[in-house]
Amino acid sequence: MTILVTGGAGFIGSNFVLDWLAQSEEAVINLDLLTYAGNLDNLTKLKNDPRHVFVQGDIGDKELVTRLFAEHRPRAVVNFAAESHVDRSIHGPEDFIRTNLLGTFTLLEAARGFAATTASESSEFRFLHVSTDEVYGSLAPEAPAFSETNRYEPNSPYSASKAGSDHLVRAYFHTYGLPVLTTNCSNNYGPFQFPEKLIPLVIHNALNGKPLPIYGDGRQVRDWLYVTDHCTAIRRVLEQGRLGEVYNIGGWNERPNIEIVQTICSILDALRPRNDGQSYADLITFVKDRPGHDRRYAIDASKIERDLGWRPSETFETGIRKTIEWYLENQSWVTKVVDGSYRTWVEKQYA
Ligand code: NAD
Ligand code: TYD
Repeated sequence: MTILVTGGAGFIGSNFVLDWLAQSEEAVINLDLLTYAGNLDNLTKLKNDPRHVFVQGDIGDKELVTRLFAEHRPRAVVNFAAESHVDRSIHGPEDFIRTNLLGTFTLLEAARGFAATTASESSEFRFLHVSTDEVYGSLAPEAPAFSETNRYEPNSPYSASKAGSDHLVRAYFHTYGLPVLTTNCSNNYGPFQFPEKLIPLVIHNALNGKPLPIYGDGRQVRDWLYVTDHCTAIRRVLEQGRLGEVYNIGGWNERPNIEIVQTICSILDALRPRNDGQSYADLITFVKDRPGHDRRYAIDASKIERDLGWRPSETFETGIRKTIEWYLENQSWVTKVVDGSYRTWVEKQYA
């Protein structure tokens, strides 16, 4: 048996592939374009593992994805591949539409073609689409957390492109009977996260004595989930989720950004005190706000907890400490990302 994972060289995808192969004999076909966010260093543990087949390519390449379905006959697809950074989507939305919307469309079409030719196997086949809580828009301070029935109100090109892909997935279930599942998760953090996102960026800047940029007043609220908890939730939805259903995933960990940054600073103060004896918090710098910055996200995870019995293993306190320890122990991973040398393998392919 085989599963097809897309975007499996990125942050969450690589954690998922590592976690999957640590628990299962089932092979993984890992289709990833290796954009700036894809990093094969995340997968070095699997270098000589025959159960991991890496394919560099685009989910929007119809010929390629059709061939991968025909060759490997996966029993499931887990679609992580995406452009994922809100700030980048503000400066250049085109890649977000191309990958998140059109790429998902191409993958759905190929999956539909494959499912139609495998009538007997197709009852087992699953297309799991990994999405975000950002599709629901911004919550007022006292509003209840997002449930699966909240209206879609995306505010950034990133969240709009993900919302569009969620709608396509839904439509393929209702129109063509494709056996789909959708998950909408809150902000993730943990090992292998690209240091453009808040938590790894702050850890990296702090260790290098650089300013820790806080957008606007820093009172925006995000709901944080440790990445391996997201991976176990996806696995649970894949195995037990009801076809056509949406599952919100989150760990009930709402925090304002400023508090996240202060927490990172105080853990670093204890684990790696600065030479001058000052706190890392002295590096906090308030900067111009992100345009259209959503004020608050929060996930109501009651459905996945009640229907599928999933619970996160990490609290924010245990998860953030583990994350900081991982970045301290893996400075060479960060250095290669920051100096660009993690791209060497990709550039050789294109030379
Ligand atoms: P990431 O940016 O770290 O990784 C994305 C991966 O997709 C990269 O390896 C990249 O090379 C690959 N990719 C991009 N375009 C591709 C294409 N056209 N074809 C094939 N591969 C392509 O992203 P992430 O943070 O790991 O997020 C993974 C998924 O989870 C995304 O769909 C994202 O919307 C969703 N999600 C992320 C978070 C979060 O906090 N990071 C939260 C909820 C949901
Ligand atoms: P980010 O990690 O980019 O995730 P998202 O935009 O998908 O939630 O940002 C998390 C929060 O942190 C968000 O409210 C924006 C804020 N932020 C900063 O204040 N400073 C930064 O340098 C970054 C990258 C984000």
